[in-house]
Amino acid sequence: MCGIVAYIGPKQAQPLLLEGLKRLEYRGYDSAGLAVLHDQTIRTVRSTGRINLLEQKLAEHGDLTGTLGIGHTRWATHGSPTEANAHPHADHHQRIALVHNGIIENYAALRTYLQDKGCVFRSDTDTEVLAQLIGHVRADAGCDLFTAVQGALREVTGAYAIAVIAHDEPETLIVARKGSPILIGVADGAYFAASDAAAILSHTSQVVTLDDYHVAKLTRNGKGPEMRTATVDNVPVNPTIIELEMTLDEIELGGHDHFMFKEIVEQPHALTNALRGRLDKRTGQVVLGGLSEFSRELVNTRRFILTGQGTAWHAGLIGEYLLEDMAKIPAETEYAAEFRYRNPIIEKDTALIAVSQSGETADTLAALHEAKDRGALSLGVVNSVGSSIARDTDAGVYLHVGPEIGVASTKAFLGQVAVLTLIALYIGRRRYLSAEQILQYIEELERIPEHVQSIIEQSDRIRDEVAKVIDEDNWLFLGRGYNYPVALEGALKLKEISYIHAEGMPAAEMKHGPIALVTDGMPVVFVAPQGSQYDKVVNNIEEIRARGGRIIVVATEDDHDIDRYADTVLRVPHVPEPLQPLVTVVPLQLLAYHAAVLRGHDVDKPRNLAKSVTVE
Ligand code: G6P
Repeated sequence: MCGIVAYIGPKQAQPLLLEGLKRLEYRGYDSAGLAVLHDQTIRTVRSTGRINLLEQKLAEHGDLTGTLGIGHTRWATHGSPTEANAHPHADHHQRIALVHNGIIENYAALRTYLQDKGCVFRSDTDTEVLAQLIGHVRADAGCDLFTAVQGALREVTGAYAIAVIAHDEPETLIVARKGSPILIGVADGAYFAASDAAAILSHTSQVVTLDDYHVAKLTRNGKGPEMRTATVDNVPVNPTIIELEMTLDEIELGGHDHFMFKEIVEQPHALTNALRGRLDKRTGQVVLGGLSEFSRELVNTRRFILTGQGTAWHAGLIGEYLLEDMAKIPAETEYAAEFRYRNPIIEKDTALIAVSQSGETADTLAALHEAKDRGALSLGVVNSVGSSIARDTDAGVYLHVGPEIGVASTKAFLGQVAVLTLIALYIGRRRYLSAEQILQYIEELERIPEHVQSIIEQSDRIRDEVAKVIDEDNWLFLGRGYNYPVALEGALKLKEISYIHAEGMPAAEMKHGPIALVTDGMPVVFVAPQGSQYDKVVNNIEEIRARGGRIIVVATEDDHDIDRYADTVLRVPHVPEPLQPLVTVVPLQLLAYHAAVLRGHDVDKPRNLAKSVTVE
């Protein structure tokens, strides 16, 4: 979704802002813009489309000179992706410029109020309302920008991360947040602000994260840069500087064509990191420091609710099966956006697990708050350290798979499933599972990274198989048990980046309608490793074959019986059934990747998608 970069320091701002915006391209956007202050004048250049179009425009208009500036990539919500709606936005007198992520919910009422005061609007956005409001408060009260931002933010409802500058305060950059992420980078003699660490990591790894309702004033003067933070009600707060864990290598392509492929290839390493220090063979225990304080509550939990959106929801569904299977505690998975609005029943001893790569998905965050307010214990299964969900949960387990840049989630999904497996084992060990059973799982889990590696080595073959069916526009993905969520994930991957219509569903459900779609040559992917429901899936394969479907099967490596039924077999190593998703999803990730590349699509910038959906 939208991205923010801002800079105040000794260097020219424009190149730094453009570099930061390019690093945020992966989040998804449809227009971009910059505003730079020089000689009491704010110059703004905006463009629809990609950042290279913005660069072309800057080349035509002449570069923006100045050492204080703000930049933005916009993913349209209120108002279409036009240049007029692109950020930065200004107030009526063009004295301030602002970039914003989030949604101002009471923008309509504020707009009417400001229009009555004579403000003329130039866009259809909720963001311009905030820019106009800050300008209006500042002019009305004759106060400085910091005070005006605080005053305006007291009037708005909704979510925001903002960076603001004023034409007559050339030494000041204001940053504020509520509900949308923003962090401040502390560099030598300069400050950056960014919605995502990737934008500033090449300049600094020292950051300050803001809490909700906090406003920061970043200034420079003869003595060097200074930061002052306070709440919107002007209660001073002390900023704490933390060191980012991520490295530049992790957010660069490193010789790969696409981040998605890089991250698929990284999975063995990512999984090793997710499991590191958490499997104790000596004691037959799973060690999860983040949960230790709540181990008693977890053992006595009567119901788990797993929640998330997209890929994280699929991982949650696997978590549900794992928790019921291993810990024998009732569990259910809900879309966060549904859960938060349907007046859910939370009884005593309920725990909610929020699953999220970014830790910033608006609906997942709201579902978490809803469950907490109703008395549930809240846990996070999150990748992004220090993110909103990670901070707002009672306890949690980080994925530690490293930053994920590819919009189509791959290594985070494996990390989520691995961590949910660990949580199920952790609780299971304290309820019904013996040390011997845990030991067996530990040994099998330790082998998963090398199994994943062996599947990645089949990448070229998978590409050749996909090439045979690349012109087909409709696919089905079917699985049972633990592999039903994998079928959902396989279909999601294919549609996200190749734009091929794909449906995932439980294999048995196919007979209740979707089988009517099957025509000669339609690719139908079965996720059918050997296990308790294997024979049932083979029956389903026969039913599709009889109707001319082209059968692609993800099967266990030594299952040669399946060859009789399949046009294509993608082989995965044998693992215990509860661990199968950790291997069966990998060929489907590669299948989707190659399909998108063969169709000529930009895998890392899929149409209309955002990496992190920070609006509901
Ligand atoms: C977006 C992304 C998906 C992701 C989902 C949830 O839709 O494109 O890849 O699965 O959000 O994101 P989260 O960061 O909460 O895991």
